[in-house]
Amino acid sequence: MIITPRVRGFICLTSHPEGCAQNVENQINYVKSKGTIDGPKKVLVIGASTGFGLASRITSAFGSNAATVGVYFEKPSAEGKPGSPGWYNTAAFEQKAQEAGLYAKSINGDAFSDEIKQKTIDLIKADLGQVDLVVYSLASPRRTNPKTGVTHNSALKPIGQTFSNKTVDFHTGNVTEVSIAPANEEDIENTVAVMGGEDWEMWIDEMKKAGVLAEGAVTVAYSYIGPSLTEAVYRKGTIGRAKDHLEATAFTITDKLKDLGGKAYVSVNKALVTQASSAIPVIPLYISLLYKVMKEKGIHEGTIEQIQRLFQDRLYANGEVPTDEQGRIRIDDWEMRDDVQAEVAALWEQANTENLSEIGDLQGYRTDFFNLFGFEVDGVEYEKDVNEVVEVPGLV
Ligand code: NAD
Ligand code: NA
Repeated sequence: MIITPRVRGFICLTSHPEGCAQNVENQINYVKSKGTIDGPKKVLVIGASTGFGLASRITSAFGSNAATVGVYFEKPSAEGKPGSPGWYNTAAFEQKAQEAGLYAKSINGDAFSDEIKQKTIDLIKADLGQVDLVVYSLASPRRTNPKTGVTHNSALKPIGQTFSNKTVDFHTGNVTEVSIAPANEEDIENTVAVMGGEDWEMWIDEMKKAGVLAEGAVTVAYSYIGPSLTEAVYRKGTIGRAKDHLEATAFTITDKLKDLGGKAYVSVNKALVTQASSAIPVIPLYISLLYKVMKEKGIHEGTIEQIQRLFQDRLYANGEVPTDEQGRIRIDDWEMRDDVQAEVAALWEQANTENLSEIGDLQGYRTDFFNLFGFEVDGVEYEKDVNEVVEVPGLV
C-alpha cells in the first residue's frame, strides 16, 4: 500500500515502515560513529520502542555490544491499517541487531501488569541469566495497578491555580492564549500512580526476587525539569509531582540494591518532540523556540545524541557518575544553560502567530513530529508501494 500521514491533533493515525526503519538505521549509524562505550552487556529496556527508550536500546546494542530485551506496547498492522511506529522501529532494530550477531528479543504487552513482568523475567532467566542494566522509559496516559486492579488516568494540570500562557498549534502555527484549570487531589494522586516510581520499584522488586539482577546492576529512569516558563504546567503541576515521586524512588531502589552493589539513577533529559510531549499544552511552543536557539548555537540534540552522551559521559564514563545535589544525572545541561534560557525567554515574550515561523523553529518541530511516524524522512520513497505487514524478528 501507499501510506500517507493521517493527522488528528497531536497524533498521527498512520505510520510508515520504511521511514521508521530509516530512522532506526540513522540512530544506529550515529551511535557507531561515536565509538565504543565500555558499557552494559545485558540490558532490559522497559518502554523500548520509541523515544528515549528506543535510543537506550540502540545505544546499548550498537555502542556497547549488549544483548537487549525490549518491553513495549505497540500494534502490528491489521486489516490494511499500518502498525504503530514502535512496532516498525522494533522490527528494524531487531533485524539490524540480529544481523550484527547481537541477541535482541522483545515482549509486547502491558508493562504495568504482573503477567508481562513474569514473562520478561522468564525470558531473561532462560536466555541471559541476569541483566546488568534496566532502563525504565515508559510514558503512558494510564496505568492499571496490578495489586489493586484500579485504573488511574494521568492529568496534565497546574496545581493551586489556573495557569494561563501562550501555546501553539504546531500544524497551523497559530499562537493563542490557553487557560488550564487547576488539578484536584485525585488528579494529583492518579498522575503520580501512572508516571511516578511505583511501577519502576515493582519491576526491580520482582527482578531481584527472581535473581535476574547481576552484581552491581544499574537501573535508570528518565525525568524532566525545564524552565520557569513551563513550571506551572510541568514541574510544579501534576506531572511534576509524578517526577518528584520517580526521583525519590531512585533512593528507595538504591537502598534495596545495596547488597548487590547496585544503584538506581534518574537522568534528567532535554525537552524533545515525542508522542508524549506533543500532548502537553505550552510545551510545543517552548520546544520550537528552544530548538531555534540550540540549533543556532550548534548544541541541539535528539533522543539518540542525548542517550549516547548519557552512556558515554555519565553512566559509563568510568569513575563516579556525576550528579546534581539531588543525586540526579543532568543531561539537560545544555538546554538549561543560562544563555540558552535567556534567549528562549526573550523570544517567548515576542512570539505570536505572525512571527513564530521566523523566530522559532516551527518547521523543525513539525519535521520531528512527522519523523516520529516515519514520515518526511530523507531517502524514503513515499510514492512507492510498501508492505505494511512487518514481522518483529525477536518477538517472544
Ligand atoms: P515515548 O512515548 O516515545 O515512549 C514511551 C514508551 O513506553 C514506548 O516504548 C511505549 O510502547 C511504551 N509504553 C507505554 N505504555 C506502555 C505499557 N502500558 N506497557 C508497555 N510499554 C508501554 O515517550 P518518551 O518521550 O521517550 O518518554 C520516556 C520517558 O522519558 C518518560 O518518563 C518521559 O517523561 C521522559 N522524558 C521525556 C522528555 C521529552 O521531552 N519527551 C524529556 C525528559 C524526560
Ligand atoms: Na521511551
